[in-house]
Amino acid sequence: MRLRYVDADPRSVVTPMLAVGVTEGADPASGLLADLDATLAGAVRRAFAAGDMRGKSGDETVLYGAEDGPARVVLLGMGKADKVDAEGVRRFAGRAVRTAERLRLDAVAIALDSVDDLAREAVAQAAAEGAGLAAWRFSELKAEDADDPTVAVRSADLVGSADPDGYSRGSLVGAAIARGANLARTLQARPGNVATPTHLADEAVRMAGSVGLEATVLDEERMRAEGMLALLSVSRGSEEEARFIILEHRGGAEGDAPLVLVGKGLTFDAGGISLKPASGMEEMKYDMSGGAAVIGAMQAIGELGLRVNVVGLVPSSENLPDGRATKPGDVIGSLAGKTIEVINTDAEGRLILADALTWGSRLNPAAMVDCATLTGSVVIALGHHAAAVLGNDEELVAELRAAGEVSGERCWQLPLWDEYSKQLDSPTADLQNVGGRPGGSITAAAFLKEFVGESKWAHLDIAGTAWGEGKLPYQRKGALGFPTRLLVEWVRSRAG
Ligand code: BES
Ligand code: MN
Ligand code: ZN
Repeated sequence: MRLRYVDADPRSVVTPMLAVGVTEGADPASGLLADLDATLAGAVRRAFAAGDMRGKSGDETVLYGAEDGPARVVLLGMGKADKVDAEGVRRFAGRAVRTAERLRLDAVAIALDSVDDLAREAVAQAAAEGAGLAAWRFSELKAEDADDPTVAVRSADLVGSADPDGYSRGSLVGAAIARGANLARTLQARPGNVATPTHLADEAVRMAGSVGLEATVLDEERMRAEGMLALLSVSRGSEEEARFIILEHRGGAEGDAPLVLVGKGLTFDAGGISLKPASGMEEMKYDMSGGAAVIGAMQAIGELGLRVNVVGLVPSSENLPDGRATKPGDVIGSLAGKTIEVINTDAEGRLILADALTWGSRLNPAAMVDCATLTGSVVIALGHHAAAVLGNDEELVAELRAAGEVSGERCWQLPLWDEYSKQLDSPTADLQNVGGRPGGSITAAAFLKEFVGESKWAHLDIAGTAWGEGKLPYQRKGALGFPTRLLVEWVRSRAG
């Protein structure tokens, strides 16, 4: 969709629909509401007087205007004014797009001035994110979509004049973040037979070319030469070749330690020889969600030209059973030189991440963050409303938690005490790849910790948040792009 900021009085924009946020207790006789009321011959005040519009979240009133301004003015309730935060604005903008779809309109304008309790720049950013995310659809594999009577919204104008500079900066940032998250969602949504490791690598290279990043892709032969034996052990059962994707953004001074983002790019997880049950296995096409988020975040980082060096790493493989596949009990090597007893071939994410984290740690990063659909057990711990964050540096964990609040992609810390690492002791090798059921998300992180060297590092377990029902106004069922926004906000906070 085309997303842009327009410095104008909302009353004067010629658009099929103008969305205006209304908070509880808002006075229709003042500010933007009064202005609109005047051009709509008292219709705003009548909607309030009738009790149809009380500003409660979910309230929606459609008013019809004149030809030289908005053809429709849609009032959308936002709830209590002191509770409206960036997430409230994201949802408001998402609802604006959903309402336009339902009314079969392909363009919408969104009034920014209606929210004045937040910084203007943050309002515009959140509105751009909400509108951009809401407009995303995944229809490339349907010949036609007869069940969907809505129309695709192709343009959203963010309108306001209270702070043109802040509004235009925020709009650009929010639009880039939404585009990054939407790229991640498209890659997530593609099925395993389309989004293979080679496909992810090709898409990453194409994206890098379009925003000016450096891209390098290692094939299996090169990985073998490097000694990435843990990653290759996962790929053994697959006909599709593994790939290791490296994306570089040089926005900081040469020689400045980079931030490293690592994302699990497992394009289909059948479990390997430790085969998963058939029911629901199709969802394991989403096991590359971490890699997709890193690719999406790198696009936004490149587009925004953030003044910091960032390296994105995506180890990508399938995990399938086969006569050549790694078997339970096998002992494998790793880039770090440690030997690993593979007790369960379904704990493969930590194996491909181990080599990627070793690679990242050798870049001497200022900080390294990985994200991965790593454990079913994180869904038991936190449900679908937060990712788990664990790490070896409390400051970094705090930064990620803060970026989660700002972006609306929240994470919650689990402990990573040394005691948990005992569960990974192996009688045969340096360590084993599973630690039993107790604390499954924690022992997975404890495994990763063995491969980060001296780096400041944190891990996000996104198994409960990367895809889902998509009940928020700016989401759809399926791919959610989580944690693209969180990663970009964290890098933005580091770039100053
Ligand atoms: N990709 C899965 C984790 C997963 C499960 C993500 C469900 C989303 C939903 C991962 O590779 C896996 O299979 N983990 C195992 C680890 C176990 C064998 C220690 C799990 O969580 O069951
Ligand atoms: Mn698995
Ligand atoms: Zn997996």
